[in-house]
Amino acid sequence: MNYELTSKVVLIVGGTTGIGLATARAFALQGTKVVVASRNKDHGAAAVSSLVALGSDACFIECDVGKAASVDNLLSSVLRQFGRLDCAVNSVGYDLRLARAHEMAPREVSEQLSVDVEGVFSCMRVEIDAMLGKNSGTIVNVASTTGLSGTPKAALYSAGKHAVIGLTRSIAKEYIGDGIRINAVCPGPTATPRRERRVAHLSLKERTEQDSELAMEIPIGRLGSAQEIANAIIWLSSPLSSYVVGHSLVIDGGLTA
Ligand SMILES: NC(=O)c1ccc[n+]([C@@H]2O[C@H](COP(=O)([O-])OP(=O)(O)OC[C@H]3O[C@@H](n4cnc5c(N)ncnc54)[C@H](O)[C@@H]3O)[C@@H](O)[C@H]2O)c1
Repeated sequence: MNYELTSKVVLIVGGTTGIGLATARAFALQGTKVVVASRNKDHGAAAVSSLVALGSDACFIECDVGKAASVDNLLSSVLRQFGRLDCAVNSVGYDLRLARAHEMAPREVSEQLSVDVEGVFSCMRVEIDAMLGKNSGTIVNVASTTGLSGTPKAALYSAGKHAVIGLTRSIAKEYIGDGIRINAVCPGPTATPRRERRVAHLSLKERTEQDSELAMEIPIGRLGSAQEIANAIIWLSSPLSSYVVGHSLVIDGGLTA
């Protein structure tokens, strides 16, 4: 499939593991120049090696989206390296802690939302700034099915993802007149390192039981893969989705159907 992404420049924030890394690989296979950004230098180095092995012109930039200055610096580094920005994917997420609302400490509110909401907003702000004036550009935010309905024991995460969908819809309407197309994806439960961390404290037997219980709730009968989410992100970033604006594409094996 020709997605017309060859020689374009993509920035993937949160692109060093999980859904972000699968997306970076999918872009690399299209001949796109790939910049991956995250807080973790070791993951960054490993991600770049795997992208270069696919033949990509790729680099890593260290960035903490919870810090506005770090996000500003990110975009100047992208422009210094490749001279322009055509596509952006915001795949950052604060690690979910399952707890009832009254069990959450006040600081957890700002910790979660500074990454999931302020972080995504800060990234969009600088990405749009870099794209303005060219009458082109795409941004895909990684939201979640938890952004579409209430999620017990994950209220802050769910609130943050509702906000990502709200930012996507509102900002998409603001900038489509400038040729910048903004959408989101809403993955259901997806097998990534993030999910591995959540079940790391369980025994193998407990994990197997939990995985099969979860799989039974999903009509397709299994978790999604990072590659399956990346496939949708590539389509939303390509001219093949040229009439799709402000949309939140659910990819969840039928969970919310
Ligand atoms: N895995 C799932 O089941 C699932 C389901 C729905 C939505 N999502 C969303 O998908 C996105 C990616 O998650 P994943 O499962 O691939 O997890 P992941 O942990 O593999 O990836 C998250 C990435 O974000 C980066 N990151 C985290 N905090 C950061 C910060 N402050 N600054 C810069 N980078 C930061 C990490 O280094 C990592 O590269 C998240 O937004 C998550 O909420 C995941």
